[in-house]
Amino acid sequence: MSETFYLTTPIYYINSVPHLGHAYTTIVADAMARYHRLAGDRVWLLTGTDEHGDKIAQAAAKAGVSPQALADRNSAAFREAWQRLGTTQDDFIRTTEERHRRVVQAILQKLWDAGEIYLGKYGGHYCFGCERFYTEKEIVDGKCPDHQTPLTFIEEENYFFKMSKYQSWLIDYITARPDLIRPERYRNEILGFLRDPLQDLSISRPKHRLQWGIPLPFDDKYVTYVWFDALINYFSALDWPDGERFKTFWPVAQHVIGKDILKPHAVYWPCMLKAAGIDIYQHLNVHGYWTLGGGKMSKSVGNVVEAFALSDKYGGDAFRYFVMREMTFGLDADFSEEAFVGRLNADLANDLGNLVARATTLIVNYQREAGPPAAAGPEEATIRESAATARRAVETAMQEFAFQRALAALWEFIGGINRYVDSNQPWALAKDPLQRPRLDRVLVTLADALGYLGVMLTAFLPDAAAKIRVAIGQTAAPRLADAEIGRLDRLPAVQKLSGLFPRVESKDKAAPADQPAAGRAASAPAAANPAAPAGPATIGDFRRIDLRVAEVIAAEALPKSKKLLKLTVSLGHEQRTILAGIAQHYAPADLVGKKVVVVANLEPAKLMGLESQGMVLAGSTDDDGALAVLVLDRDLPAGAKVR
Ligand code: MSP
Repeated sequence: MSETFYLTTPIYYINSVPHLGHAYTTIVADAMARYHRLAGDRVWLLTGTDEHGDKIAQAAAKAGVSPQALADRNSAAFREAWQRLGTTQDDFIRTTEERHRRVVQAILQKLWDAGEIYLGKYGGHYCFGCERFYTEKEIVDGKCPDHQTPLTFIEEENYFFKMSKYQSWLIDYITARPDLIRPERYRNEILGFLRDPLQDLSISRPKHRLQWGIPLPFDDKYVTYVWFDALINYFSALDWPDGERFKTFWPVAQHVIGKDILKPHAVYWPCMLKAAGIDIYQHLNVHGYWTLGGGKMSKSVGNVVEAFALSDKYGGDAFRYFVMREMTFGLDADFSEEAFVGRLNADLANDLGNLVARATTLIVNYQREAGPPAAAGPEEATIRESAATARRAVETAMQEFAFQRALAALWEFIGGINRYVDSNQPWALAKDPLQRPRLDRVLVTLADALGYLGVMLTAFLPDAAAKIRVAIGQTAAPRLADAEIGRLDRLPAVQKLSGLFPRVESKDKAAPADQPAAGRAASAPAAANPAAPAGPATIGDFRRIDLRVAEVIAAEALPKSKKLLKLTVSLGHEQRTILAGIAQHYAPADLVGKKVVVVANLEPAKLMGLESQGMVLAGSTDDDGALAVLVLDRDLPAGAKVR
């Protein structure tokens, strides 16, 4: 049954050039939209740029151009970036467009008329970099926690949105909807934040300080605060209130954002919508942050990864694959070219590329005109089953934005097909004329598997998927409903497809484009498919593991388990539940207050019905021998990186 699906990315600030962080969000949103289109859904994907605010005004003044001229130029850089990555947004909204400004002013007027906005005095510590005030609690050493620059004390009259009155409504709303904000850790973070009193939101800036914004319709001495302006893009782009698009897509709205902008989306935005009498979005999907060598990545710190250069160097599909496979949606991940190349070689060149080359080569070399294939046997039933299992797993994972799980499920299937080739040895079957029908069955199954991958990979590796479909003669648009094995009973006309993902020999030496594995694969199958690159771990491998200092806040035994302790640990800015297999070595009370070391970017695991969100490091002699949890030699704050 076809559904309606509406997804938005954040609208990006145009004072930065597009980088890996922006690219990640846009790529996952694109993959999600493509997946829904594949399923036959009616899809709308929105992205755009957030163009008002101090930073643009200042940068324009410095460059000696008008803010609008700068905005035009910088917004175009984002539009071009998405063209370069081939993402498939249906619309691109800019907050300087008339269609947006009109809606922002209409919402402001509506709230003003309803008494939801009042004029008040505000004094506070302001960061010009973040364009926001910081509360005493948030300030670190008198500085902005984000930029580490001094804050400016500003006192002024401003308009306020009566957000505080929605606090208990918001808590109830979130509590009643477990998957409104997901993954769960961000929902918990917001519910934690809402335990303190919620303040009203200053939604204006006096024009004498800032000109570059949308004027308040009821007082033109003020412009609208950037966040109040920006959030409204999500429906100004749908032509609120009477547009067909608004009516069709708003009821199913979902947002995808990075964790840095959780609060505006999980607190301000629902309160604004509630006050304006507009339905709240269905889901807020929050991902973690990309770091570089464990450090924060941002333009101001000057270490932005040139995502687009890497995408050009290794191919857009490889880049998409890496970012979606490497980052567990919701957790932070570290980016390194070594890790990228590692995955490219192991998963794309070896597992997928070799399979496609082997399968198409075998089919082309051994196909013949007549004769029905032998009936499908138990091995084919297993393949059919594993395709269905992978498809279901992808479906569930995609409902939860778990891209890494969707890809892992497809790679399970790919591994199974590679093993099927190894165990059936078509090149041996070809030597025995009596085995001809069996050989035909194996070849048909391989063609079927390629057809399945040509559909299932569409959302993730659109170019590679299209090449696979062409190689097996599929010309129709792919449909999820066709991703099924067992329907094919004769071989289609197949072309050899090798070098789908050329191996990269070392970090800076790209392999020649035609380094086929096919000829070799047909005669030497066993060597074609190692599970992972062999050899010693590199520093890149190590950096992919995010080790953190964690303070044990609570520990308890699990009545049903002899081995596990349930630990609640603090990583500074967040709390996690970790199930540690140390119950036979530590009493819960021994651990509380200790600072231990945990792996913070492990994919969460379900143990005894509970979710474990990390792993505590410990040394041991052997499985049942003495065990010692790693603690620190000197005190460090919870959350500190271990490297
Ligand atoms: N303009 C606001 C958003 C308004 S939405 C109504 C803004 N813009 S931004 O340019 O700073 O983009 C922030 C978003 O970019 C993050 O939420 C995330 O989607 C993406 N990323 C930027 N840096 C990132 C990383 N280092 N890692 C992952 N994604 C990050 O905030």
